[in-house]
Amino acid sequence: MPIGITALGTYVPTRVLTNKELEGMFDTSDEWIVSRTGIRERHLAAEDEFASDMGVRAVNDLSARYPGVLEGVDMVVCATSSPDALFPSTAAIIAGQVGLNGAGALDVLVACSGFMYALSVAQGMVLAKTATKVLVLGAEALSKILDWTDRTTCILFGDGAGAAIVEEVPEGYGFQSFVLGADSTGGPSLYKFAVADHIPGVPVGTGAMLGMNGREVFKFAVRVLGDSGEKAMNKAGLSGSDIDWMVPHQANVRIIESACGRFGVPLEKTVINLDRYGNTSTASVPLALREALDDGRVKDGDQLLLVAFGGGLSWGASAMKWYGGAGRKVAVQEQELVVK
Ligand SMILES: CC(C)(COP(=O)(O)OP(=O)(O)OC[C@H]1O[C@@H](n2cnc3c(N)ncnc32)[C@H](O)[C@@H]1OP(=O)(O)O)[C@@H](O)C(=O)NCCC(=O)NCCS
Repeated sequence: MPIGITALGTYVPTRVLTNKELEGMFDTSDEWIVSRTGIRERHLAAEDEFASDMGVRAVNDLSARYPGVLEGVDMVVCATSSPDALFPSTAAIIAGQVGLNGAGALDVLVACSGFMYALSVAQGMVLAKTATKVLVLGAEALSKILDWTDRTTCILFGDGAGAAIVEEVPEGYGFQSFVLGADSTGGPSLYKFAVADHIPGVPVGTGAMLGMNGREVFKFAVRVLGDSGEKAMNKAGLSGSDIDWMVPHQANVRIIESACGRFGVPLEKTVINLDRYGNTSTASVPLALREALDDGRVKDGDQLLLVAFGGGLSWGASAMKWYGGAGRKVAVQEQELVVK
């Protein structure tokens, strides 16, 4: 029984923070940020807008694109690096606000790899018949956990959310492989305290806000993006030439460029939108994929490779055949409406 994504919605807050504006906040330049990262601007949540709010708005977009899509959802899985609270889960808060009270709800906390892990959790639940239709979210209010005086980290991130439906798909579509992993030796390279006010290996007095060793994360990211992507392809019996579109975590264009060489997927077949959103952690893969669907790059039956990495340090990759059937149905309905 193949399982896959059948619907995808997204949301980004309206407020845009440009590199030029950052120049007025601390010693940096548009030229430095673009040349080191590829990022030009990012969207920031309003003061009273949190991960759950953005998740709800991504679900609203999902419902607008695929009317009636929430019917039958019996599980909500939310990946987030910036949850509203330790508990209740952000998933439970979102479920309650989109009319899914009573469905199971859990958060997945694997930093920027979280969306890939959440897709795999959803697939497993459907295969085990624990659930039949899972709403999977990546929702982030990262701007709330950034140190806005740390020019090396705060320039990188942005806010946003994605919402996907994972359920049975027709034969020949859906997830073909997952590769998930973590290496705690890199834990001190990317961190944020929760209950304990220390993390082994992290300098005392840091960690209240997101902390990072950029160079270490860069080296790790280039390695695992290539390695996990290659493993996901091998597991599915594929090679780089089979991939129609790679959708990587949108952290840094230089990381993506370096990794592309490692698994033989050319840059022209890679979806990149980090210039306008920065690194939105768990929301980055759905935001990039939705954009590629909207502009017609990704089509029904395309061979995709999704790859992410993040705190943990962690990684997650999946090969999948895109199922565009649900979207087609909506398009046909719209055409019929126009005809009438
Ligand atoms: C953060 C990152 C862009 C920094 O780029 P880098 O080339 O490694 O830069 P460095 O940290 O070595 O700093 C180089 C210089 O630029 C300076 N610098 C740092 N941030 C700056 C900024 N925003 N503007 C201007 N100069 C800056 C540093 O102070 C340093 O100056 P110095 O040489 O006088 O000490 C890069 O390491 C990176 O992208 N790493 C991966 C981070 C990531 O993706 N994290 C999320 C993973 S999910």
